[in-house]
Amino acid sequence: MKPTRLRGNKLIRNLVNQTKITMEDIVYPIFVVEGENIKREIPSLKNQYHLSLDMLDKEVEEIIAMGIQYIIVFGVPDVKDEEASYAFSDEGIVQKAVRKIKSLNKDLYIITDVCLCQYKSDGHCCKFNENGTINRIESLEILSKVALSHARAGADMVAPSDMMDGRIGNMRNLLDENGFEHIPIMSYSAKYASNFYGPFRDAAGSAPSFGDRKSYQMDYRNSREAVLEMDLDIKEGADILMVKPAMPYLDIIKMAKDTFDYPIAAYQVSGEYAMLKMAVDNGMLHEEAIIESLIAIKRAGADIIITYFAKELKELLKKY
Ligand code: PBG
Repeated sequence: MKPTRLRGNKLIRNLVNQTKITMEDIVYPIFVVEGENIKREIPSLKNQYHLSLDMLDKEVEEIIAMGIQYIIVFGVPDVKDEEASYAFSDEGIVQKAVRKIKSLNKDLYIITDVCLCQYKSDGHCCKFNENGTINRIESLEILSKVALSHARAGADMVAPSDMMDGRIGNMRNLLDENGFEHIPIMSYSAKYASNFYGPFRDAAGSAPSFGDRKSYQMDYRNSREAVLEMDLDIKEGADILMVKPAMPYLDIIKMAKDTFDYPIAAYQVSGEYAMLKMAVDNGMLHEEAIIESLIAIKRAGADIIITYFAKELKELLKKY
């Protein structure tokens, strides 16, 4: 067979191409903060903003106009403590934001990031014992409380990003016991201890105050343990498996897709966005590189892509 590129124009190429992206594959991350009248550009994430609750009306309008149907909400609280209290409080920033967004538009699908690092004074995703080891039992209890409080506020899906062993099962049980059997869990299953999260940690104020996350996030030298992590998450009741970051981990996405009969999500993280955005804005890369990056992630096997490019995408997809 002759390759179709030899036979004609964009229309035929579009007809036969193997990989398509639509806005229904895309999830847009938003960052909510306490306060009023705040729409502050995040210095390390161009075109992404910290938004106070009163600015959400306009934001939701814009999101809908850009063709976005799915968002993932990250909270940046004013108060941090040892217990991460504002992560599970009904008056926490995410809980308030979810209620507000639902009241503005009930059709926008809301996923919430479930973690402790933004809410804990030490910036870690878990509780520690006196001797510095992870207190898994207490960590799981708090994380599950966070997920439940998000569901109560009206979240459509929860996405735990902490990487503690056993969190999916624990969370699933608590959600089910409280009548939230219908709320799916998207697990950050294969989450690597990555340098590409740098800009996000500035955005969320969640850089650890000591040590790193290498004892609970995965070593980027390894691929086999990704399968193990995903297998455990499935057994505990995860509905969607995520690989994070995305473009430097296409092999992991592909392996996940080939190994499991589950929807695979990939997170094109802050560092990937920052690199591409800067290069495109400075004329070093053509803007089509954005689409190429997302197609590569989709081609590797992702069904869902979380990306900060979501707002630019509708227009880009028309062009390329
Ligand atoms: C919280 C969390 C992180 C990201 C999503 N949820 C940061 C981290 O693990 O340090 C990163 C997202 C991004 O870089 O865009 N645990």
